[in-house]
Amino acid sequence: MPQSPLIVALDYEDPSQCIELVERLDPKQVRLKVGKELFTTAGPAILEQLHSRDFEVFLDLKFHDIPNTVAKAVSAAARLGVWMVNIHASGGERMMTAAREAIDKASHQPLLIGVTVLTSMTAEDLHQVGVSRSPEEQVMHLAGLAQQSGLDGVVCSARETPELKRQFGKDFALITPGIRPAGAAADDQRRTLTPAEALAAGSDYLVIGRPITAAAEPARACEDILASLQANA
Ligand code: C5P
Repeated sequence: MPQSPLIVALDYEDPSQCIELVERLDPKQVRLKVGKELFTTAGPAILEQLHSRDFEVFLDLKFHDIPNTVAKAVSAAARLGVWMVNIHASGGERMMTAAREAIDKASHQPLLIGVTVLTSMTAEDLHQVGVSRSPEEQVMHLAGLAQQSGLDGVVCSARETPELKRQFGKDFALITPGIRPAGAAADDQRRTLTPAEALAAGSDYLVIGRPITAAAEPARACEDILASLQANA
């Protein structure tokens, strides 16, 4: 099991491209994230392929449905052997508690993580769906609800991590995308932090996609990121 906080986002449509990249990565160095695009294309078979190569996998399907359905979905994810699975905190306390209870009954128990406010949502988007709090206030509110419901942590922007750690403690895991090594292209991300900055701000796991997947030498890109973390430790 890797000691490192790196989770590589496998944002591929084509499973064979994904496996080509994975063959250049080391399961002792990184974990992998499978999201909606790859899972919808390749199904549970892709998880088997990644697990057979000894990788731990974050299944990023952001479940949001009635409590019974979400409980069944996270149980299915647990049976697939994933390391981490996530659900929308805005599904409410009963939905999150049902998911917690389902995982507690499973023989293999993935970490159960909440999505608070998608970072693509602006204050205006929230108002349109009837939320009058600011995005920052809504993140804190939903993270509190997630913790009360027994979730293991939340996905959040690295900018939110200091306040989340302060309010919810060091054992509440914070998983942050929007990370760019110093000098790397920002792509479509805004307000990025470097891996070292994100860890210093309180992130526990860093979700990084293109700086690794689009690198000429992905293994080398991982090593460079890990070295940058050690240099700043
Ligand atoms: O390539 P890049 O490092 O930007 O990939 C980041 C990953 O994190 C993608 O899979 C993206 O969907 C995900 N993500 C994000 N911002 C969020 C939530 C998830 O970039 N707020």
